[in-house]
Amino acid sequence: MEIGNWSLEIKKPSMSSKPKNLISASLMCADLGNLEREIKKLERAGIDFFHIDIMDGHFVPNLTFGPDLVKKVKELTKLPLDIHLMVENPEKHIDLWQTKKDDLISFHIETTDHPGRVIQQIKARNSRAGIALNPATPLNSIAYLLQGLDFVLLMTVNPGFAGQKWIPAVSDKVKKLSQILHDKNLKIEIQVDGNIGKHNIPLLKNAGADIFVGGSSSVFADSNYFRNAQKMRRLLNEK
Ligand code: DX5
Ligand code: ZN
Repeated sequence: MEIGNWSLEIKKPSMSSKPKNLISASLMCADLGNLEREIKKLERAGIDFFHIDIMDGHFVPNLTFGPDLVKKVKELTKLPLDIHLMVENPEKHIDLWQTKKDDLISFHIETTDHPGRVIQQIKARNSRAGIALNPATPLNSIAYLLQGLDFVLLMTVNPGFAGQKWIPAVSDKVKKLSQILHDKNLKIEIQVDGNIGKHNIPLLKNAGADIFVGGSSSVFADSNYFRNAQKMRRLLNEK
């Protein structure tokens, strides 16, 4: 289907509603003074993605990584990156992050008047496109965009900082989105981010989440990332 010059890739019907149970480790929680060592440790822990939080000091009251650090991470690992943009007007910056084919990149629906254009920019790089929603942003804000997406990131905290407490009401939102995707036969993954740990993994998994961001309450709870990721994996694989 073509809308203007934005061609929509129509998703194939979902073959199974089984959650994917993927772990994306949030680099913001790592020891950044030892980036290479941390990346190797996380690879050995068996994580699936490196979650990289990009904050601009406008959309969120914090500043984090820039494109040079992201480039360095890319040089240090073959695992896909999962770039979470918390920046105003992401359409101005998509190419800065140099995402490749298997990389994920998400932007917040609250940050742009041109979400379709941003998706198009991500697709032009052959990367996987996601839209992130703050806890208070309703699902209908992305109703007309679902067809073009690979994943939706539902924030379980207000974005900006690691180490916050999750907002339990988001688990209903995950359930609702999962039902919508099932009804529409769309193969779009659901990512959850913010205070993900043993207190909410079973609930969010049963609600339909596929990708879990491991931060200070899980992968980085202590320095044994291997054991922490294993614990997380065990919870994810429990029936
Ligand atoms: C919050 C970030 C999260 C954060 C996760 O704005 O998007 O990715 O780093 O850290 P925890 O799990 O500690 O909330
Ligand atoms: Zn994040």
